[in-house]
Amino acid sequence: QLKDNTVIVVLGASGDLAKKKTYPALFGLYRMGFLPRDVKIVGYARTKMDDAEYHKRITSYLKVADDDADGKAKIEEFKKFTFYVSGGYEDGPSFENLNKFLEEIESKYQSKERNRLFYLALPPSVFIPVAQHIREQAYSKDGINRIIVEKPFGKDLESCRVLLSSLKQHWTEDETFRIDHYLGKEMVKNILVLRFANVALNAAWDKNSISNVQITFKEPFGTEGRGGYFDEFGIIRDILQNHLLQVLSIITMERPVSFSAEDIRDEKVKVLRAIPPIERSDTLLGQYVAANGKPGYLDDDTVPHNSVCPTYAATTLWIHNPRWEGVPFILKAGKALNEAKVEVRIQFKDVTQGIFKDISRNELVLRIQPSEAVYLKLNTKTPGLNTRAIPTEMDLTYKRRFTDIKIPEAYEALILDALRGDHSNFVRDDELDVAWKIFTPILHWIDGKNGPAPKPVPYPYGSRGPKELESFIAKYGYKRTVAD
Ligand code: BG6
Repeated sequence: QLKDNTVIVVLGASGDLAKKKTYPALFGLYRMGFLPRDVKIVGYARTKMDDAEYHKRITSYLKVADDDADGKAKIEEFKKFTFYVSGGYEDGPSFENLNKFLEEIESKYQSKERNRLFYLALPPSVFIPVAQHIREQAYSKDGINRIIVEKPFGKDLESCRVLLSSLKQHWTEDETFRIDHYLGKEMVKNILVLRFANVALNAAWDKNSISNVQITFKEPFGTEGRGGYFDEFGIIRDILQNHLLQVLSIITMERPVSFSAEDIRDEKVKVLRAIPPIERSDTLLGQYVAANGKPGYLDDDTVPHNSVCPTYAATTLWIHNPRWEGVPFILKAGKALNEAKVEVRIQFKDVTQGIFKDISRNELVLRIQPSEAVYLKLNTKTPGLNTRAIPTEMDLTYKRRFTDIKIPEAYEALILDALRGDHSNFVRDDELDVAWKIFTPILHWIDGKNGPAPKPVPYPYGSRGPKELESFIAKYGYKRTVAD
């Protein structure tokens, strides 16, 4: 399904995203043999530089081990089909110039077909002018055109709708690929298989068996250097409203009629529509303070000294449908915590009392990162001459089970999907709309739009989060397993 005669244009080629994610992913795909035959990659940005300087930069973006001779040779090959064009983001002539360059390299193709994939690794302030200029000046008339855009897709429901409708004036939904890179992560892609290819799990996947669900994102570093951007958005817009809500929708959706992109996304939208806006009382907000020799959020020079922007948030969502009525879904995310971890923790209900007392609950944990794993906390008889039950784990850790498989990076998986025209793991317009509906009221409250903004509780850099967290999750019925 990969189209030959494809040019990939990376706009924002000298920015952070291109450097950390886009180019390494393109190179990874090339190494694995997953780029279209005869592909060309064109970097575009404002910085003036020639191909030699651009190639030097690319080499610094692509990491291969010192003794990886094959990797080094592949980088040299990769550079042969990568080019650079400099130009502005808001003026037509720059894009005419880009188009001329594209036509020039495409003229070497054997057939008349010309496909173009535009990757916007750009700040939101220039999304719209760039999308418009590409459409008007650099759109291929003889092939498929696609555009990849990155979050943030607005700041609330209203601004998201403005952004969506402006983009739609130039690009159809079919041509548009909105990235939420969590949808490209291996374990997130595994959720549908785990749920729908296993009768044993599927049968217990509802309010009758499940007590509560936590979806957790933890990062061990603060905003370091990104304070300016972060302060405008906060942890809810950065992580919960997109990455964690996407995971939640896949955990809770009904079985899609097929694996087609529209069938999957229809079910995701349906379950999201059953979630009312988050209540203030279901929210815990935190902000990290200096500790363990590390600076606090407010010590960051790029952050206003009196900022009340949350760097930690826990929110509980409720789904009003027959499967999930009454089950709390706790989404929590924080910066500057004690570890790097993203996981889904599904806690089952207590066994009915009678023969057992104080028995731990079953828990199914999907560890998204680091070290992908699925494990189930299970009670077993303690081996030996007794009848005591003990909590144990049935553990599927990918590194041990799939020893010679390289797990693809999220961006590799997603760029390949976009090249193939598969929208399953991209965010549809109506999904975005409903996601903002759930979060907008709480965000407006946090932004101080309708009264004084709430003050986040402090937590020390490097800790597990606000000390209030323990009682927050207990309120929703979470019980620690006895052996914890
Ligand atoms: C991004 C956020 O979307 O996701 C960052 O803007 C965050 O703040 C990042 O660090 C986390 O991604 P990953 O893949 O490292 O979990």
